[in-house]
Amino acid sequence: MSQPPGPAPLPARPLLITGARRADAGSGDLLIMDGRYADPADAPADAERVDADGLLALPGLVDPHTHLREPGREDTETIATGTAAAARGGYTAVLAMANTTPVTDTAEAAEYVLDVGAREGSAQVQPVGAVSKGLAGEELAELGLMARSRARVRMFSDDGRCVHDPTLMRRALEYVRTFGGVIAQHAQDPRLAGGQACCHEGEVSGRLGLPGWPAAAESTIVARDAQLAALTRSRVHVCHVSTAETVEVLRWAKQRGIAITAEVTPHHLMLTTDEVVGYDPTYKVNPPLRPAEDVTALREALADGTIDAVGTDHAPHARQDKEHAFADAAFGMLGLETALGVLIETMINTDRSDWSRVIEAMSHAPARIAGLPGQGRPIAIGEPANLTLIDPQARASVDAAASLSLSRNNPWHGRDLPDPVRMTVWAGRVTYRHD
Ligand code: DOR
Repeated sequence: MSQPPGPAPLPARPLLITGARRADAGSGDLLIMDGRYADPADAPADAERVDADGLLALPGLVDPHTHLREPGREDTETIATGTAAAARGGYTAVLAMANTTPVTDTAEAAEYVLDVGAREGSAQVQPVGAVSKGLAGEELAELGLMARSRARVRMFSDDGRCVHDPTLMRRALEYVRTFGGVIAQHAQDPRLAGGQACCHEGEVSGRLGLPGWPAAAESTIVARDAQLAALTRSRVHVCHVSTAETVEVLRWAKQRGIAITAEVTPHHLMLTTDEVVGYDPTYKVNPPLRPAEDVTALREALADGTIDAVGTDHAPHARQDKEHAFADAAFGMLGLETALGVLIETMINTDRSDWSRVIEAMSHAPARIAGLPGQGRPIAIGEPANLTLIDPQARASVDAAASLSLSRNNPWHGRDLPDPVRMTVWAGRVTYRHD
């Protein structure tokens, strides 16, 4: 059997995990050997025994939307630190967005990210390729060369910017269809949003005197892209859905059988525009936090599958870029370490979803959407051993200073949240242990 994608094979000790429950049915001991699950009856005498009594075993989480800042801004995050934070959050794979410096818009750039990930990562790092050269929105990047490279790029995105030109979007969709790729769109009409927008357009923006984005800047692009996906018989994925209007458009498109998928961030599932009232730039994010009605619609859409997946949009920033007046600060917030905790709080503890839905949204669906064959697989003999052991009852107060990320723009600092992850195993190797 070929090696699953993962770190260079290490003489990792076999692991015999006893007592863990399985959310996706099944129970019993788990043996991990040579990077895969094996029959516990074959456990060698020197296997390390892990007592997982009372813990739940989930397939390793997959983040379809991570900003690692390497190359270019290693002062804010490296592939090593970002994936260490990912492992702590229960992730075994991340899709690394293309808005690095230089941009991941060539085969060489994609292979660079892949190689550093394989060498230094605590999780699988799969590069996302840019749709347009330099994210400039004018000329298609080397989509085919990236797809055929060692990095085997399947997901393309100009995230941080919208692919606004409909002809470019159409060409990109046509192109990726030839190799089963997908365009992940940051849906936001820049003309409707305006260059200065920095929060949701509504009552709060009016009161604070901040320029805002109307919800329609997102939903109109999603409606357009759904129709372009239908026209090209290709696949579009909507990044970080943030409004109730977009949910309606997704429902409409899915009913028609259009190949559209979508993700929601943990912060859009819990935080609202009210956070912005204190002008704290920690809560400045793109797309912006929205009113409570949108949060409710997003939770419903995630529960019923209209939104397929959870993506963190983990976006580390240096203090000097973030600690400004609200209008001038960088967009983005950390999310990898807290994502599962927020999902437990918003979806499980509210009885909106059961575990199988959360596992689907945080592991199976993102792996499928992004085309990662060795990830998001069931916990079964012969499968790659990507695993997260969690205690769903454990809680903690989030401490930004204790983060494994290099950055501190953590919107969850000081909040009491589920802190479930006890151990993460990527391709048979332990990448995180809670002490
Ligand atoms: O808030 C955001 N930050 N949204 C994006 O789309 C980009 C990201 C970043 O790269 O910082």
